[in-house]
Amino acid sequence: MSAHTDRAGAKADVVVVSNRLPVDRSDPEDEWRRSPGGLVAALEPVLQSTGGAWVGWPGQPDAEVAPFRFDGMELVPVALSAEDIELYYEGFSNDTVWPLYHDVISPPAFHREWWDAYVRVNERFARAAASVAAPDATVWVQDYQLQLVPQLLRELRPDVVIGYFHHIPFPAYGIYAQLPWRRQVLSGLLGADVIGFQRVADAGNFARAVRRQLGYETKAGAIRVPTEDGGVRTAVAKAYPISIDAAAYDELARRPDVQARAREIRASLGDPATVLFGVDRLDYTKGIGHRLKAYGELLADDRLDVEDVTLVQVASPSRERVAAYMQLRDEIELTVGRINGDHDTVGHTAIRYLHHSYPREEMVALYLAADVMLVTALRDGMNLVAKEYVASRVDGRGVLVLSEFTGAADELTQAIRVNPHDIEGLKDAIMTAIEMPEDEQRRRMRALRRRVRDHDVADWSRSFLGDLDSVTR
Ligand code: G6P
Repeated sequence: MSAHTDRAGAKADVVVVSNRLPVDRSDPEDEWRRSPGGLVAALEPVLQSTGGAWVGWPGQPDAEVAPFRFDGMELVPVALSAEDIELYYEGFSNDTVWPLYHDVISPPAFHREWWDAYVRVNERFARAAASVAAPDATVWVQDYQLQLVPQLLRELRPDVVIGYFHHIPFPAYGIYAQLPWRRQVLSGLLGADVIGFQRVADAGNFARAVRRQLGYETKAGAIRVPTEDGGVRTAVAKAYPISIDAAAYDELARRPDVQARAREIRASLGDPATVLFGVDRLDYTKGIGHRLKAYGELLADDRLDVEDVTLVQVASPSRERVAAYMQLRDEIELTVGRINGDHDTVGHTAIRYLHHSYPREEMVALYLAADVMLVTALRDGMNLVAKEYVASRVDGRGVLVLSEFTGAADELTQAIRVNPHDIEGLKDAIMTAIEMPEDEQRRRMRALRRRVRDHDVADWSRSFLGDLDSVTR
């Protein structure tokens, strides 16, 4: 293995393929910086120790960047033109697959031109992965932007073992069946030896779609896939719930400067009795509007008083050129303005709305400052914010209100569960959270913290890669 590790352009024994590279820079003149997020944290050590490579888009249009070394990994950029970004990324990935797989919360658009671009770009990623993988390498493909890569790669490189992990939900058959290219996408995914999902239900939905559309036999997640030479091979569809680097959050939350910052945040809000907190990418799947509606009604009904409570809502900018996201931003900002206009006093605000992203230190300070965390997604593959909140509560206090439509709800059973469509139920849950006695907060938080600590993102990647390792080549 080590023979492959020491220079740019070498072949890699382990290759990760994802839409975005794990680094970022806002300007071609700038230095590359490591992107935040658990996936990078989990996979970096694996790639460093195996001389691995990561294939992905560098995040800018038309960036023809040569492969380069970064933090002990070989990074292999795949260029996307402005047109590819519009048709493959904003179009098919984020205006067809994303809304379809999130239970059509927003109507998916089906355009043949977008599909053609998706095929073309997936071929480009597959070629890049094929050219960097060493003989018999392990290649791990990530997420819905690259569903065709497993089969395309298998055709180019039958010697490699292929894993695919789907970070978002896989919908029920009746919804999936709307996709005009439903058979091609299933065949693309079935090119992998192991196909990982967040929840058991997602793996079940996938197996059902395979049975109904392709007629293949499936048994307890093992799918019998016919091969070109008339044989059969087995692909495994199974749940691997993703997590976070829990120890890193715990460690940050114990730092005196981070705790001081948490106190400063509360003071700057006027030291209200209760701080409610929401943080999401500004996405229609997150149920931000439902959360604001419930909160606004609690203020209007005088069940809450703006002198005693503030909602801090961080909405980080996302996919800003896709029409559904522009419309969502307008709706949310109108709602925030109305609620604040109706309820603010000169000294107190109902909602402190922040359309920014923040570094991890500041996020942890915000988690520590929040008495109640509101996760009200209408559909979410996992929702790592819920896990980050729990991992940050080293003081054992705080209440998590968690939508049952998140993958995290399968694991975080000590949270207050909500159906965000039920506004009355959501209002009651927020009140229960605000009024929860400290001993009950501690009891629930202890169980939640144990779960997140014992199932972190390193376990996730270990268990997935372990299953890939046992695939016979
Ligand atoms: C979700 C997806 C990821 C994606 C991220 C940010 O978590 O599962 O694949 O990278 O959103 O979205 P973006 O479109 O900015 O990459």
